[in-house]
Amino acid sequence: MYLIISILIATHAHSEQSVEEIIKNRKALFSKNYSTAKKVQSLSARGEFDDAKKLMLEMSENYKTLIELFPKNTKEGFKTEATPLIWEEKDKFNSLMKKSSTDMIELASVIEESDNVRGVIGQLMWSNCKACHSKYRKEH
Ligand code: HEC
Repeated sequence: MYLIISILIATHAHSEQSVEEIIKNRKALFSKNYSTAKKVQSLSARGEFDDAKKLMLEMSENYKTLIELFPKNTKEGFKTEATPLIWEEKDKFNSLMKKSSTDMIELASVIEESDNVRGVIGQLMWSNCKACHSKYRKEH
């Protein structure tokens, strides 16, 4: 009996902790992408495309990780700003995340030849943040 209770408590503690961890992890990763995005912008403006491209591909990978960080049990708590709409239309949300990821690869391949660096960054990087936040992130 004691053993069963211990297992129940341990399992419960574990699941609580992992929800907190998942939410904290995704927030940290979004924050990291934000600071990386600002570096992408400034490096590209200075014509330092090799460094900028590395960071673009890093962001692309981070989006792939982010897709996995929205399981059903993480809808609320721990100051999440995620809206419930994410789980009502998970396929749309995931495809927006995937598009954001592939757009970063696209950006890395076209940036050097572009005659409108600012414009193409806006189109392939910043516009995806806005498109997603307007539906899936709460006012903050
Ligand atoms: C496909 C959806 C999606 C895309 C694309 C996206 N975000 Fe977010 N972002 C979210 C969601 C959802 C949250 C809320 C996460 C939470 O609080 O659990 C969030 C939260 C954030 C946060 C707050 C993190 C924190 O510490 O609370 C920042 C900063 C952020 N995003 C920046 C960006 C930037 C910059 C981009 C584009 C380069 C971007 N996001 C692209 C969905 C997205």
